[in-house]
Amino acid sequence: MSNNNRPTLEEVVALCKRRGFVFPTSEIYGGLTSSYDYGPLGSELLRNIKDLWWKEFINLRPDMVGLDSQIMLNPETWVASGHVGSFSDPMVVDVKTNKRYRADHVIEGWMEGKEEFKDFVVEDLSTQEMGQFIKEHKILSPEGHEFSEPKEFNLLFETSIGAVTGEKSKVYLRGETAQGIFTNFKQVLNSSRVQLPFGIGQLGKSFRNEVTTGQFVFRTLEFEQGEIEYFFDPEKTDWKELFEEWQRKMMDFVINTLGVSGENLRWRQHTDKERSFYSKETYDIDYHFPFGWKELWGLAYRTDYDLTQQMKHSGESLEYTDPHTQKRMIPHVIEPAVGIGRLFLMTLVDAYWKDEENNRIVLKLHPRVAPYKAAVFPLLKNKPELVGKAKDIFNDLSRKYPVIWDERGNIGKRYLYQDEIGTPVCITVDFESLEDESVTIRNRDTTKQERIKITQLEEYLANMLD
Ligand code: GAP
Repeated sequence: MSNNNRPTLEEVVALCKRRGFVFPTSEIYGGLTSSYDYGPLGSELLRNIKDLWWKEFINLRPDMVGLDSQIMLNPETWVASGHVGSFSDPMVVDVKTNKRYRADHVIEGWMEGKEEFKDFVVEDLSTQEMGQFIKEHKILSPEGHEFSEPKEFNLLFETSIGAVTGEKSKVYLRGETAQGIFTNFKQVLNSSRVQLPFGIGQLGKSFRNEVTTGQFVFRTLEFEQGEIEYFFDPEKTDWKELFEEWQRKMMDFVINTLGVSGENLRWRQHTDKERSFYSKETYDIDYHFPFGWKELWGLAYRTDYDLTQQMKHSGESLEYTDPHTQKRMIPHVIEPAVGIGRLFLMTLVDAYWKDEENNRIVLKLHPRVAPYKAAVFPLLKNKPELVGKAKDIFNDLSRKYPVIWDERGNIGKRYLYQDEIGTPVCITVDFESLEDESVTIRNRDTTKQERIKITQLEEYLANMLD
């Protein structure tokens, strides 16, 4: 898709609402900041992305196992990981309205379109330097007021459990899924047949008290992560080679599994100042979203920091014993961590096609990720013989693939609807079908139609998905 044909965020949001991909959370009460629900189509697309992630990174690999840990962990976990002490963003407050803003996002917004700041990395500034920058350039809030000095604001959500009282009842909603992997490291070692190098992956909800709004599902308070901790012995495995191998796997997933075009993707290395102190190397895959190049998927070499921290705080050994040499060591990790909502938004933005020639909007989703693989229609809904035959086809196909039934409106309207929700093919049962056991199959992208035998439909869809 060429850049000038790319959708705006507003167009994507409108399509998501119109067709049932994403709705604002609690809309009947006026919504809830940075929170969205996935509708009938969005939940299918989201599930496809998660299933593909799980299949590619866990099921298809002998060196990976899965995990599903809790959202609320023993709070000491977050003290050990450093989240309680320093999982924070620099915030400034509009002195008149008391609204909070992320200082780095305020500066980034101000620099947008200014050629002289093209290569400026805001993350390189300390909190204090961000304050100076805002003052020096007289940057004002969206309401036109001055900002306060920036202060660090912790992103962890706190809640309390009923079974205990006082300070001990305080727990956090996890800020990342990763720590559940580290705290289960010993159990996985003891219960499965894994040997270094190996990885543990998990999909699940994380929570962050974000204050920047207006980026749709890109940045939300509650979001799903797909995280992998890949453990290895740095004396036996060259971390640089492993890192590059993960870079290839991540990019391959985005381009070849999700079907996203490469032109809007890039690798960005974190600068020394920006990188977390425990990380030896961090790269992000950035995607060119309608609001600019933004982080999609991070890859970090976290050394043995997390296991060491959890070991110190729990007093439990999280060492690995080499089965051949009996050497004991703390494994190092490389961590690919992605937000499923960001994969979702990228997939939609990339697939959004304004087909001006045919005056339609098409979601050119790869059939693998499309919510429905085919739509089945009777040509006319008031002809029982057509409806009956089409229902038989629907029932047969839906046992194998998600397919959608539609008998509303005329055939042209049905096609337009299916194009907008990304259904790769439409299958129509007409009067000829009653005679020759064939149907019309219409391709979403080319709009071309062909006749095929009903008995060949399953094979047709299987080839399309391959
Ligand atoms: N365990 C490492 C970790 O959590 P991160 O860079 O903070 O690293 C990983 O988060 C990924 O999670 C990001 O690359 C992004 O895709 C996603 N993510 C982070 N914060 C998010 C938010 N507020 N909303 C949606 N996705 C988010």
